Amino acid sequence: MMIELAKINKYYQQGTNRFHVLHDISINIAQGELVAIIGESGSGKSTLINIIGFLDEDFSGTYFYQGRAIHELSRKQFSRLRNRNVGFVFQNFKLLREQTVAENVALPLLYAGKRRKEINERVHEVLDQVGLGDYADQFPKNMSGGQQQRVSIARAIATNPQFLIADEPTGALDTETSQEIMDLFKHLNRDEGTTVIMVTHDPHVAAQCERVVKIIDGRIVSDSKGGMLNADS
Ligand SMILES: Nc1ncnc2c1ncn2[C@@H]1O[C@H](COP(=O)(O)OP(=O)(O)OP(=O)(O)O)[C@@H](O)[C@H]1O
Ligand SMILES: [Mg+2]
Repeated sequence: MMIELAKINKYYQQGTNRFHVLHDISINIAQGELVAIIGESGSGKSTLINIIGFLDEDFSGTYFYQGRAIHELSRKQFSRLRNRNVGFVFQNFKLLREQTVAENVALPLLYAGKRRKEINERVHEVLDQVGLGDYADQFPKNMSGGQQQRVSIARAIATNPQFLIADEPTGALDTETSQEIMDLFKHLNRDEGTTVIMVTHDPHVAAQCERVVKIIDGRIVSDSKGGMLNADS
């Protein structure tokens, strides 16, 4: 099993108050899955995927990743694990608007210590893959939301991560563009075997995922496979 979380609890401390945000979350995710995480605002979706994506190591419970006990790692091992295994896609793209598309996509490869030639090849490869082969020298600030999200997906897959974490990746896009981005995620999942874990508010997006996990008040209340989902659930 790729991702195995058992009895995860998460608290946020604010002054003297301690908020219990995740309650005994247990979930397994296998390589190759396309998982949607749904739930109301404040239910703990981002908190959960930040733990899954090795952005947050401050939790109780156990997390085994490819059989490895993540909850026991040092901070340094933890960030190395993140850099090597996870790609992130966010609602607001988080691109460097004054840098070219190619420079944005090259960033994680630079961090990974790749050589210039290898970086250039890989940048063009992933830009082709997301349909932006001709946009390498453009600037994100001159591009549409859908195009910017494609750039951020290219950046996320550049290092060939084991899985992608996407937090409301279509949240800032119109219906048609959302579908284009969703088609891209489905392509990466089906044809490239990329594991995708996606938070979404959009029932239409969730319905296209083979597995839908619903969270209410920090608890998993349903976990259904098969892509069937009522629009109101
Ligand atoms: N850094 C933080 N410090 C304190 N409380 C936090 C922090 N981050 C999140 N919370 C609280 O934890 C709860 C869950 O937040 P989280 O961001 O995971 O929700 P969410 O389901 O992603 O919501 P949304 O759909 O609005 O993005 C909320 O009550 C939120 O206020
Ligand atoms: Mg959130």
